[in-house]
Amino acid sequence: MRLKNKIAIVTGGASGIGLATVHAFVREGASVILWDLSEKGTDIAKKLTEAGHRVTFAKVSVANKNEVQKATEAVIKQFGRIDILINNAGITKDRTLLKMSKEEWDDVISVNLTGVFNCTQAVVPIMKEQNYGRIVSASSNVAIRGNYGQTNYVATKAAIIGMVKVWALELGRFGITANCIAPGFIKTAMTDAIPEDVRNQMITHIPAGRWGQPEDIANGYVYLASDEASFVNGICLTIDGGAAR
Ligand SMILES: NC(=O)c1ccc[n+]([C@@H]2O[C@H](COP(=O)([O-])OP(=O)(O)OC[C@H]3O[C@@H](n4cnc5c(N)ncnc54)[C@H](O)[C@@H]3O)[C@@H](O)[C@H]2O)c1
Repeated sequence: MRLKNKIAIVTGGASGIGLATVHAFVREGASVILWDLSEKGTDIAKKLTEAGHRVTFAKVSVANKNEVQKATEAVIKQFGRIDILINNAGITKDRTLLKMSKEEWDDVISVNLTGVFNCTQAVVPIMKEQNYGRIVSASSNVAIRGNYGQTNYVATKAAIIGMVKVWALELGRFGITANCIAPGFIKTAMTDAIPEDVRNQMITHIPAGRWGQPEDIANGYVYLASDEASFVNGICLTIDGGAAR
């Protein structure tokens, strides 16, 4: 087991990549705290607990600093430490530049960027005290290659690549690593929203000849959260089947 006895927070753990990550982490021996806006988290935690795993759910918006702070305090009260933070929650509100409203811009920035800031800032004091921590955040391969209609989303995902480099510099001496993953097109609710003809076109750009599955990214999260990656810091791991960039 690669995450035995680790205490891990997974944001956006009620769906898609986050849900696959919750499953992968408990299989690897971690206790998981799932933060999500969706009430589906209650049922997920219940079923996994019945199966003998240690999983709790809290309804938290990562965009809300107070909620994140309170939820972090609750984790410490229950588990006593936080070893791993997976900043996975994210949303899209696509629109071409000139049509994008301020609200669409602000909403995506609040969840995908400020959310990552809020959660990381809340757990780092604890990780510093422990002299141990693993922070892994969800970027995207569109941060590197751009994507039509995603000014807001790409801005957040590119920012994450920069932020983890800063955190590697600032936090490395406290036994904390900060990395991110840049997934390609992964089959989840997020990408199911893309029109079918566009999706079919996208697959022609993936040498692997298939869509990624949530587990492809969960495996990357496991690696970067594990002790195998203790000398990996400030990187962005692209997992996209070799998609054209
Ligand atoms: N699916 C892809 O192709 C793909 C590609 C690149 C990057 N990503 C990134 O991977 C991450 C997971 O994506 P996914 O495809 O599994 O998405 P998803 O839509 O299936 O799941 C996202 C989860 O985040 C939760 N969430 C949304 N807003 C939240 C908030 N304010 N607070 C807490 N939870 C919130 C949702 O309720 C949902 O459970 C995202 O950051 C996404 O940007 C996905």
